[in-house]
Amino acid sequence: MSDPYSNLASEEDSIQARIADAMDARCLEPAQIAIRKEYLSDLALPDSAYAVEFGSGTGHVTRDLIAIAGVPRAHGIEPSPVMVKRAKERFAAQPGLSFEIGDAKRTGLEDASVDLVLMHTLLCHVPDPEKVVREAFRVLKPGGTLAVCDGDYDTATTQIADFDPLDQIVRFMINQNVTNLWIMRQITDLLRDCGFELGKRRGHSYVAEGDAAYFLTVIDRGADRMAETGVLFPDTAEALKAESRRRLTANRFFGFMSYVSQIARKPGTP
Ligand SMILES: C[S@@+](CC[C@H](N)C(=O)[O-])C[C@H]1O[C@@H](n2cnc3c(N)ncnc32)[C@H](O)[C@@H]1O
Repeated sequence: MSDPYSNLASEEDSIQARIADAMDARCLEPAQIAIRKEYLSDLALPDSAYAVEFGSGTGHVTRDLIAIAGVPRAHGIEPSPVMVKRAKERFAAQPGLSFEIGDAKRTGLEDASVDLVLMHTLLCHVPDPEKVVREAFRVLKPGGTLAVCDGDYDTATTQIADFDPLDQIVRFMINQNVTNLWIMRQITDLLRDCGFELGKRRGHSYVAEGDAAYFLTVIDRGADRMAETGVLFPDTAEALKAESRRRLTANRFFGFMSYVSQIARKPGTP
């Protein structure tokens, strides 16, 4: 199966909605908000900066460009109509925030018109990421900023002991839902080849907290998919979902992944 995020608009609305639910759950978790604050709060941007998120999903991270990065205007571009509808409805009252259906490889934005481009967990899903990075380079003003943050997917785990079967669901989900697991370990060459100067790189640890809402979406979607594809019988899939809930109730659940952010700059004077 190919990564459904790489062409979400072609998936059934119910699949887009399930992924949108997972994105909402992830965006709202305090530990995820903390990661976004870590790399978005100290960007040096002009007061009038115009920022664009490529792959804006349900819109929370685009809103962070206003709420955390402090820009007056932010725009999200996203191919999934279900996601864009949700973002528009949720943030209708937020001044300066807009969303449109589009493709990060061909945004239609004018050359040198944007101060900040953000890609938050986008590039791992794109089969030819250099096209997206080149588009960011084209639309950024000289001196403009590119911020990229993505998972370091080989670190994703729910494993609490040797041979823990719950972890197989996470491995399966990464295999089925991520196009390039290694994107943040390869990003520096990609950015330099597209003309960017490298800025700050940081690692961010994500440990699922509280009700582990996002990790449970990973386990549920993975277990269902394992049953659909015949890897597991349906009752085994349900048993693994129940195992995750029992671990949570017993305060034994562990969910972890590293994220990496990389800031880059388009050469030139603003
Ligand atoms: C994991 S989601 C992240 C959404 C959002 N950035 C967030 O963190 O909540 C990845 C998003 O990238 C979008 N995407 C995939 N390919 C894209 C492309 N070529 N152009 C723009 N967005 C794309 C997907 O539709 C999906 O909504």
